[in-house]
Amino acid sequence: SSNIRLAVIPGDGIGAEVVAEGLKVLHAVGVKAETTEYDLGAKRYHATGETLPDAVLEELRGYDAILLGAVGDPSVPPGVLERELLLRLRFELDHYVNLRPVKLFPGVATPLGEARPEDIDMIVVREGTEGPYAGAGGVLRRGTAQEIATQESLNTAFGVERVVRYAFEKAQARPRRKLTLVHKTNVLTFAGDLWARTVDRVSQEFPDVETDYCHMDAASMFFITQPQRFDVIVTDNLFGDILTDIGAAIAGGIGLAASGNVNPARTAPSMFEPVHGSAPDIAGQGKADPTATILSIAMLLDHIGSAEAAARVEQAVADDLVERQGAWTARATREIGDDIAARVAG
Ligand code: NAD
Ligand code: IPM
Ligand code: MN
Repeated sequence: SSNIRLAVIPGDGIGAEVVAEGLKVLHAVGVKAETTEYDLGAKRYHATGETLPDAVLEELRGYDAILLGAVGDPSVPPGVLERELLLRLRFELDHYVNLRPVKLFPGVATPLGEARPEDIDMIVVREGTEGPYAGAGGVLRRGTAQEIATQESLNTAFGVERVVRYAFEKAQARPRRKLTLVHKTNVLTFAGDLWARTVDRVSQEFPDVETDYCHMDAASMFFITQPQRFDVIVTDNLFGDILTDIGAAIAGGIGLAASGNVNPARTAPSMFEPVHGSAPDIAGQGKADPTATILSIAMLLDHIGSAEAAARVEQAVADDLVERQGAWTARATREIGDDIAARVAG
């Protein structure tokens, strides 16, 4: 097959460390990939004031996919890189599905004690372009005792329907065929009503998918007490953000949680990244777990049509995790990458 063209944005903190291991595994699996690195992030921002220049954004549209490490740095005010770089990419490239599997691999320790891999095996379909992330709102009289800050949640019939439809299709393709809407319809009555009615309506087209509803607060509890309730979850941008960190925690930790910012219509490249951030507390120490990034590579491979290579990467991770638990010693970022790369190479 032909070369895939991949744009790589290592970003900040541990981003470069984990991306290096992801690329190591990508090359080891034998998929021909031509990679181009982009130096976006805190360093470029300090040097030039740029976060995501328009010309770079246009160039990124030409790739088959994007791999991102993490963005955000304590030296940059919160929100600058997150909004102007990461969220702008998700919005401009129309990544309306933020796909986040929550899956306990065999042998991996979970804080849920006796939970087994079959108890924690779900996919969170997080909306990626709307909700409270859209940037609607503002501030009045900032810095005064009369300050008023609003941050509105944007929900469009179009935006909700397309992500709900995607989630139904995902659920239909899985053995359990169950879709749970997670929202807060008892309080967020405008947005929640739109989400609930949309799920109801689209469900008519998927009679073989069982639908369920769970408030966000209860869902947070059930993730801990009864994770086996969930198969596919569809939820809004902010709820999905929070829920997938809980998901990461129950499935063995944030160092294992992968994600894809997917544009299912393929009008622009999709972007794959670990769920975690730049982890400034451990950056530069070679101790970040690159597994989340490597599993994000598997999702990338699946997206570009290399399902076989994706399955090999996932199996290599699974084998590595079984062994890692057996010999419970903390391993360096590079050792984990080397081990998984050696396994996929056969
Ligand atoms: P974080 O995910 O960076 O770190 C939370 C905790 O998890 C830290 O203790 C960290 O050491 C640990 N951790 C994270 N990834 C790890 C890994 N691969 N291996 C081992 N331990 C790991 O979240 P935070 O501290 O809330 O945010 C730090 C910065 O990252 C902020 O600027 C934030 O905005 C940004 N952020 C970016 C993304 C992204 O790029 N997608 C995601 C989350 C946070
Ligand atoms: C994530 C992160 C981002 C989000 C931030 C850094 C904008 O937390 O990818 O989960 O909230 O989506
Ligand atoms: Mn998050």
